[in-house]
Amino acid sequence: MATQTTKRGGFGGKIAAILAAAGSAIGLGNIWRFPYITSENGGGAFIIIYLGCILLLGLPLLIAEFAVGHNAKSNPIDAFSKIRKGWGWLGAAGLISVTLIMGYYFVISGWTLNYALSSATDSIGGDYGAFFTEFTTATWKPLIYTYIFILANHFIIVGGVQGGIEKASKIMMPLLFVILIVLAVYSLWLPEGREALGSVFTPDFSKVTGKTFLDAMGQAFFTLSIGMGAMLIYGSYFKKGTKLAGTAISVVSLDTLVALTAAIIIFSAGVENESGMQLAFVAMPKVFSAMPAGNIWAMLFFLLLALAALSSTISMHEAVTSYFVEKRGMSRNKSALIVTFIAIALSTVASLSLGDWSEYKVAGMNFFSLLDNFTAIVMLPLLGILTSVFVGWIWRREDMRAELTAEGGIDKSSYPIISFLLRWVCPVLVSIVFAFGIYDFINTL
Ligand code: TRP
Repeated sequence: MATQTTKRGGFGGKIAAILAAAGSAIGLGNIWRFPYITSENGGGAFIIIYLGCILLLGLPLLIAEFAVGHNAKSNPIDAFSKIRKGWGWLGAAGLISVTLIMGYYFVISGWTLNYALSSATDSIGGDYGAFFTEFTTATWKPLIYTYIFILANHFIIVGGVQGGIEKASKIMMPLLFVILIVLAVYSLWLPEGREALGSVFTPDFSKVTGKTFLDAMGQAFFTLSIGMGAMLIYGSYFKKGTKLAGTAISVVSLDTLVALTAAIIIFSAGVENESGMQLAFVAMPKVFSAMPAGNIWAMLFFLLLALAALSSTISMHEAVTSYFVEKRGMSRNKSALIVTFIAIALSTVASLSLGDWSEYKVAGMNFFSLLDNFTAIVMLPLLGILTSVFVGWIWRREDMRAELTAEGGIDKSSYPIISFLLRWVCPVLVSIVFAFGIYDFINTL
């Protein structure tokens, strides 16, 4: 039984709304994933396409997701079904996807914690590649860090929307911005850093292929936490009078600034030839080790990653917790506990699938990569298409317009643009890119 009488939590004000939503957006996607995807796709050319995806697809979808949550003031499943009967499954699909993302995201979050601590005590030495492989394929060590990270999440969520999420965001986000700026200033201050940057940011259009568009769109959706209920549930907690479009623009701007600054920090270290997920964990410690007080810089860098990861994982956890509270009528503590156990179970399998269980494969992938690829290649675009179709075509037009213009703060002259993007541009463009992505993916199997 849904407990409709319980008073829902909410954020205290506009700044809290921006910081919490920016916290969800700014994560491993910005600092760990964006730089290596950029370097694999021709640098500056990729960034131009990525910015196009953020503006034309990401921003309208983020506004749409805030609007659904804010309008219905419910968990993701009830939100869709309140606006249109029979559409609750779309919220459920988002919650399942975000649960799968938690499965591997918590594992990487655990690594950032170990790296921050090991850097502080100067115990990452010798061969950085070997250190990474040995640590990530070990049985217990990565699991323990992952569990510590999940517990930190648990306690923030149990603290409530205002006492937990809002408070944590107000401490973590400013700290994250300060560390980011300190690291960026330091990188730009090194002459070899400035030199390395030029070569990365100069667009190389010869590297642009169909896959570049796919990667750019996938990255735009991932970094803005699109379609998975996290932004929807935060939107449902926005206080009356919080302008949806203004909040979305602030979140998108902060997210983009952090991604670009992270790329500056990483590329100025001259590591553009390293690729893949090892970029942050192998190349960066090597660079830091050659600097004076390198272990302090390394610790700051991994602390930055850990903070970004924590502020994102609480939004994933909250989305699923809200389901158990509102749809199952459970207490917040019990709901959070269930989600914490699901997260522990999935991340245990994901972590072990890199080491002890690496021989178990589905379609040539271990469980960790399976979670990553399935959510990034299939679920993110699919949920993007469905969310835009829902808001643009299924939601009663007058109601949608009223939500976006009155509560949303979109004026009469910009409304047609947003509406056009949601009704036509998002579904069509995302479907095309999605179809190519699936085709490409099947060919690589
Ligand atoms: N946006 C986060 C990042 O860039 C990841 C994230 C948080 C996410 N919540 C999400 C991705 C919900 C998809 C869905 O790291």
